Amino acid sequence: MQLQKNNEKILIVDFGSQVTKLIARRVRDLGAYSEVLTPNQIKSIKNYNEIKGIILSGGPSTVTKKNFQSIPRNIFFKNIPILGVCYGLQLIAKLFGGKIRSSKKKREFGRALIFKKNNSILTKNFFISNNSVWMSHEDAVIKLPKNFRIIASTKNSKLTIIENSKKKIYGVQFHPEVTHTDNGKQIFKNFIFSICKIKKRWNVISQKSELIRYIRETVKRDKVICALSGGVDSSVVALLINKAIKKNLICIMVDTGLMRKDEFKITYKIFKNRYNLNVKLVNASKFFLKKLKNVSNPEKKRKIIGKLFIKIFEKEAKKEKRIKFLAQGTLYPDIIESRSSTGSKTSKIKSHHNVGGLPKKMNLKLIEPLKDFFKDEVRKLGTSLGLVKILSQRHPFPGPGLAIRILGKVTYEKIKILQAADDIYISELIKNNLYNKIWQAYAALLPSKTVGVMGDSRTYEYTCLIRAVVSEDGMTADYFTFPKYFLDNISNKIINNVKGINRVVYDITSKPPGTIELE
Ligand code: XMP
Repeated sequence: MQLQKNNEKILIVDFGSQVTKLIARRVRDLGAYSEVLTPNQIKSIKNYNEIKGIILSGGPSTVTKKNFQSIPRNIFFKNIPILGVCYGLQLIAKLFGGKIRSSKKKREFGRALIFKKNNSILTKNFFISNNSVWMSHEDAVIKLPKNFRIIASTKNSKLTIIENSKKKIYGVQFHPEVTHTDNGKQIFKNFIFSICKIKKRWNVISQKSELIRYIRETVKRDKVICALSGGVDSSVVALLINKAIKKNLICIMVDTGLMRKDEFKITYKIFKNRYNLNVKLVNASKFFLKKLKNVSNPEKKRKIIGKLFIKIFEKEAKKEKRIKFLAQGTLYPDIIESRSSTGSKTSKIKSHHNVGGLPKKMNLKLIEPLKDFFKDEVRKLGTSLGLVKILSQRHPFPGPGLAIRILGKVTYEKIKILQAADDIYISELIKNNLYNKIWQAYAALLPSKTVGVMGDSRTYEYTCLIRAVVSEDGMTADYFTFPKYFLDNISNKIINNVKGINRVVYDITSKPPGTIELE
């Protein structure tokens, strides 16, 4: 798919840092198109005309060993501005004659205060009083490379920002892409617009017609099948493809019985009535419950649900004629994560991707129109396609649904109890204008009962756990701090209205060490 008519991009070389994709997101948020490639992929680039700047990411490699990851040296002499981040800075220093040392004493992890030493275009408007930056390094540059100068230092690392402004090569030891760095965005802003001189603004909505043309040209007169869950990704894929090929798109919605309260009914109605999609409904809730009977191991639950989903989807797909394509809501982070930084193509979408495993078995060609975009871009695309807010702004929901939020054995009774509690919780978040401040929130049911007292009677019922996290992309997360009145109110409402729950607890675990889901 040929995106970006304006032919200007920032290339990001991924040396394997966990947060490389945040760099790409920051750059796009600022309005410049960015692409992430592995060092190996860089070697095969023939035409550099569209590349207005290169950012070298952090990573676990070390330039102090003989075989370190790098990019062809000639790239530094193409007059393309380069910004090295963490490992990227160390690589620049190494290639230009600086010295790098591994030092347990001088390592920096977490916040560090940064001090300005010289002016630079890269740091214009970056320094505010007491800037703290996020560090994660053991290697440090200890001798400045030739023709470079120091822009900023920290207590432990003298060479925290360096530059060779004549060659337009810059390096920062900290991570400006993470939110823990104060004002980190300004570094990228200065690099992209003042140093790389990117002029044309990237905007995902302007890609809509290009995407529709791509779908039409790829699919031609054939048919496409799509598993529609009502999540943001599959909803946007369906609307986009529907816009391109109308009735030749067949959407299959499988009711697993494990969705949130009324979710399936509401979503189906929206797709059928509002968007006039060709949706086929399959009610399989009884099968799912039967297969999950007496299963309490989380991994087993996931496998049973995944397999059954594929079986049902395959069966329905076979009933349709002339299907050639399977549409999937794969996103850009899935693509980045599925490549190793050494370039080996271990293309494997996250194992918990909703419909992972379908294509090989079904012999269908894949069509993945969202594979160049981040989640927030997909939400914007959805809004511009008329996707209603309750779908486009919805919190993520895992494929195995409530089965992994009912800890231990799943029963019909427990599903009903959890659906009622979750519905109260989410409705209260919306009512209190908190829903959009939170990345993901849900209620879960703990497997044991506790004693309580209601009126004059003793109760012995389930405990409901509520969770709310803020996050960038689900890889790390902090628990959300609720005002006390909200927690008091939610505990009251759930206990008073949901028969079967007599206790509510709030989960104050961040990720890591916890995960967002409980199973
Ligand atoms: P964890 O629990 O791994 O979750 O911190 C990170 C994000 O992934 C979602 N999640 C899933 N999504 N199928 C999905 O489609 C799954 O099996 C699955 N498991 C976790 C989770 O809700 C969170 O947003």
